[in-house]
Amino acid sequence: VSLPQDKAYAQKEGYRFFMEKEIYEQARVISETLMGRISADSIVLDELSPELLEGINTIKICACGTSYHSGLVASYLFERLAKVRANVEIASEFRYKEPLLTPDTLFVVISQSGETADTLEALKIAKAAGLKTLAICNVDNSSIVRLADATLLTRAGIEKGVASTKAFATQVATLWMVALHIGALKGTIDQQTLASEIHTLLRTPNALHVKDGLHEKIHRLSKRYLHGHGFFFIGRDIFYPLALEGALKLKEISYMHAEGYPAGEMKHGPIALADSGLFTIALMPQTLLYEKTKSNVEELSARDATILAISPKPFDLADDFIQTGDHAHPMSEFFEMMLITQLLALEVAVRLGNDVDMPRNLAKSVTVE
Ligand code: G6P
Repeated sequence: VSLPQDKAYAQKEGYRFFMEKEIYEQARVISETLMGRISADSIVLDELSPELLEGINTIKICACGTSYHSGLVASYLFERLAKVRANVEIASEFRYKEPLLTPDTLFVVISQSGETADTLEALKIAKAAGLKTLAICNVDNSSIVRLADATLLTRAGIEKGVASTKAFATQVATLWMVALHIGALKGTIDQQTLASEIHTLLRTPNALHVKDGLHEKIHRLSKRYLHGHGFFFIGRDIFYPLALEGALKLKEISYMHAEGYPAGEMKHGPIALADSGLFTIALMPQTLLYEKTKSNVEELSARDATILAISPKPFDLADDFIQTGDHAHPMSEFFEMMLITQLLALEVAVRLGNDVDMPRNLAKSVTVE
């Protein structure tokens, strides 16, 4: 067999695309994200000084694209674990809305590149208003890192695929640590819960490992998902931002119409689109609102939607089913389902003959408004 000898092929380490390589790297880079930041019974984030967190009652998160989705996940984790009021805004909206900012707010920007023009501008507005600022970023010494009061680097390594994968995974893991760190400081998380969260955090690489046969199964399934009139990705709680991210991945590289929705919102309009040509990717974790999500999926199935269920529990009404591991924690289910949606987007796009790493009309880093 003669293999291509060019430099790009070597850089891809045998994978067909950088995106594919980066999906497979996630189990490893997450270990980098966690390294030195977790002890047996505490989270150690030296970058978050006591001065930075003093007097903080609210967290406002600002970001674009995939980074906005990790911010949405964080808003659930900050409120649930750290009991801090948290909200997220798309940076291009935030910058022109004349936002009301109060000094008890920690302003968090999330950016893979550290150069996104709208996110950088949002950070400038927060700084000018005198807020304390924290950047969650993958590129050291980037414009956003230089400007923020404090930075937590996500340590994903260079990401080349325009469709972000490992950067998203490391952002979510970093933000989860921030939530635990603040919760522990404020005493909203007891020692036993913290120990169990740390236990799960340390096992995140397992959830991100591509299990034998999984990629092949998704490759086979993907041929059935090339000709519908659209995709709905649905989930609840933190699986709602994951649904948004799954839909974004698919639309970025397959150019097919895909939307993410909170599962409970379907009945307020989107279900009108349901028929057999509507592919629904249902994120059905066992640890969070399983029965609620299930009943939403049943409503779609009753309208003939084609259902791909991603769940640890077999689901009778599913047209296709990808079984996930028997995890006891929502975040482990989150990371495994994230991996599956990334591989699904990849395989659909490859079958359609698209250039996965250089999708049309998109840029890796958007440094102009
Ligand atoms: C571009 C990229 C996306 C990314 C977004 C935000 O649109 O194509 O993948 O999520 O910018 O980028 P950032 O570097 O700020 O995370």
